[in-house]
Amino acid sequence: AAIPVLTIDGPSGSGKGTISRAVAGRLGWHYLDSGALYRAIGVAAGWADLDLADPAALVRCAFDTEIGFREADGEPRVIVNGVDATDELRTETAGAAASAIAAIPEVRFALKERQRAFRRAPGLVADGRDMGTVIFPDAGRKVFLTASAEERAERRYKQLKDKGVSVTLDGLLREILARDARDASRAVAPLRPADDAVRIDTTGLGIETVVDRVLALMEP
Ligand code: C5P
Repeated sequence: AAIPVLTIDGPSGSGKGTISRAVAGRLGWHYLDSGALYRAIGVAAGWADLDLADPAALVRCAFDTEIGFREADGEPRVIVNGVDATDELRTETAGAAASAIAAIPEVRFALKERQRAFRRAPGLVADGRDMGTVIFPDAGRKVFLTASAEERAERRYKQLKDKGVSVTLDGLLREILARDARDASRAVAPLRPADDAVRIDTTGLGIETVVDRVLALMEP
């Protein structure tokens, strides 16, 4: 039988990352943070001084960039071309670069097989925008997480403030709305729930509640 996959898609700030990691931990399954792949290409493109308006160069970069995932002291780290880029990957600059390059069809194609390679026994929790629609259309369970834009901006604001990054709530809300619009309106793999996805609105819900709801879907 095919190795089982649970896809968790949704917009930034919907809690996907936290929920997916926790669910993978509880199931003892592997975890794919597909956004980190796009961010890694964005960061590598920045290091190489590539022009975000030069698709051919970005596609080469997507094929050539080495991306590895490791655990250090229980924390997931992302290694890009041999360098630990975990902190840089989380910046708004990396997110914006990722969103821009993710709109290029050949970049998405370049990452397709790499993402599918994460499907290993005993199972995979795949977190992203098109996990249920494009990368793992045959997944046995699909979840689409949402939350109001205001709540997503607040979550992000708290995260960044805890890290000592200075941002305004208003600026974050505007960035989130702009990124949502770009991710939902792009021609290739736009952000949308798969027809067979279960939608969970996480506005006002705690992490444990959402994790329990997702795990409840996994019961046969
Ligand atoms: O999820 P995360 O915020 O890390 O993703 C960064 C960007 O990468 C998103 O804004 C989106 O444009 C892109 N992305 C994508 N497809 C995925 C994961 C991320 O297009 N499966």
